[in-house]
Amino acid sequence: MIQFSEEKFKKAQEIIARYPEGKQKSALIPLLHLAQEEFGGWLDVPVMDYVAGLLHILPIEVYEVATFYTMFNMKPVGKYVLEVCQTGPCMLRGSDQIIDHIKNKLGIKAGETTADGLFTLKPAECLGACGYAPMMQLGKHFKEHLTTEKVDTILDELRAAAKN
Ligand code: FES
Repeated sequence: MIQFSEEKFKKAQEIIARYPEGKQKSALIPLLHLAQEEFGGWLDVPVMDYVAGLLHILPIEVYEVATFYTMFNMKPVGKYVLEVCQTGPCMLRGSDQIIDHIKNKLGIKAGETTADGLFTLKPAECLGACGYAPMMQLGKHFKEHLTTEKVDTILDELRAAAKN
């Protein structure tokens, strides 16, 4: 059965309590982030249904939001999700080469995950850091002014971190 851990459940209740009675649906996005963090980095249908239950809203209301925002994953992802911006300013600064480099290096296509479950490549639209192009989001961090060498270093560091 899908259920938040005690700690996450408490956090969810705290978030819901921030909103006035009858407006609990406003807690949906933070709750989806919490759920994604708790349940393996993606939002399976039973997870979204669980969130709907917590907020007393219809499951479809959760699906609509979860499928609209690219920060929510609708299928299993690797331990590290490489969200490489591919919008204009990043493209002009070489995001295509960065994406191709990652594809070649990891042997995956856009949207795929490496066989060892470590990396998912997820091209993204503008992440609001155009001045640091080309860039990617890695969890809660931005990696900026990317070069192929910088990408290699990042991947090596992540591989090393995954072993510890
Ligand atoms: Fe890449 Fe805006 S275009 S962050």
